[in-house]
Amino acid sequence: MIEVAGIDVLDVHQVRKQFPVLSREVKGKPLVYFDNAATTQKPQVVIDALVDYYSSYNANIHRGIHSLAEEATAAYESTRDRVQEFINAESREQIIFTGGTTDGINLVAQTWGRQNINEGDEIIISNMEHHSNIVPWYILCEEKKAKLKVIPINEDGDLLLDEYEKLLSAKTKLVAIVHVSNALGTINPVKKIIQKAHEAGAVVLVDGAQSSVHLDVDVQDMDCDFFAFSSHKLYGPTGVGVLYGKKELLEAMPVYQGGGEMIKDVCFDKIIYNDLPYKFEAGTPNIADTIAFKAALDFTEQIGKDKIRKHENELLAYATEQLEQIEGLRIIGKAKNKISVISFVVDKVHPQDLGILLDNRGVAVRTGHHCAQPLMEWFCIPGTTRASFAMYNTTEEVDELITGLKKAIKMLT
Ligand SMILES: Cc1ncc(COP(=O)(O)O)c(C=O)c1O
Repeated sequence: MIEVAGIDVLDVHQVRKQFPVLSREVKGKPLVYFDNAATTQKPQVVIDALVDYYSSYNANIHRGIHSLAEEATAAYESTRDRVQEFINAESREQIIFTGGTTDGINLVAQTWGRQNINEGDEIIISNMEHHSNIVPWYILCEEKKAKLKVIPINEDGDLLLDEYEKLLSAKTKLVAIVHVSNALGTINPVKKIIQKAHEAGAVVLVDGAQSSVHLDVDVQDMDCDFFAFSSHKLYGPTGVGVLYGKKELLEAMPVYQGGGEMIKDVCFDKIIYNDLPYKFEAGTPNIADTIAFKAALDFTEQIGKDKIRKHENELLAYATEQLEQIEGLRIIGKAKNKISVISFVVDKVHPQDLGILLDNRGVAVRTGHHCAQPLMEWFCIPGTTRASFAMYNTTEEVDELITGLKKAIKMLT
């Protein structure tokens, strides 16, 4: 890191050196990776942690008494402590390792949901949810004859909070809300949303898939009941996620999957289930990736989330300014409070064609509905082109995107 006029500034060129994939070429051009909302690239320390586990102490965890098993268990459990710190959970027992955000939300739907949602109850979600925070609730509502209610949004991509308050009633049992929209970049005022839900007696699940990497998450301050996120969007490996829950809720919830590890005692006529968090962690978990997730969290916090955020905000502002100058281009998602994601459509141009032409220049963007089909329907568009930023992106890369876009639009119109 370098110090400029007393302000800590991210040394992006130093940061880039930590990510081996960034030095590769795509179609003969240097890779410009702007698909970070889908998944982030991994720093060398994360790759090293994976290699180190498999080459030095690969063993199954918890039950072994030999040295390798003890080392693996200690490393795996130390990620739990690290995550507890990262989101400021009250205790490590509240950190459940899952396969990712989707897995965490499904866990809540299939356990807390099946136990607590009954006929005529209502679940509130919003119009900007990812399919992962729609489909599990839709399935539950179908099964339980409950109702799914949707918080509307405005043209800028902000939630209509007055409408939200009107939806809340004694029938509301759950509010499941995205913290940061993957398609728009909107940062939702979750603290206020949670407070209103609690006043109505409802439980709140926050989808933190996009927020955990950019914002400082404090689950106690937020007062959410559940918070789900994924390692791979936070510079860590795929296949690992976290579900945080309030202890009294987690303790009262029925078990999710059955198998080894989630039990204390098994007889054919009686089973005693394990304590938290193991109650929800059946079978051999994703040991290597969970261990390497700690390296990703350490790496991110060593650099400093505030510095990263400042850098990403500068990129977002610069890209917005440049994109706004392109004729026929419309930015989808103009919330005042947004971060790191810029979605747009261009008159008479299909997003997929843009994506292909940009890829020919080595620029990776995402095109399509971004697993938010109801949102696309609301904007009356088939999809968008989305550039999403991470700590290693540069303004020169934004310039490359803009040049590529201008050429592509000229070719396609
Ligand atoms: C807002 C949001 N929620 C949930 C998910 C699902 O995350 P995962 O695929 O890691 O389970 C994503 C992934 O893009 C997302 O952006």
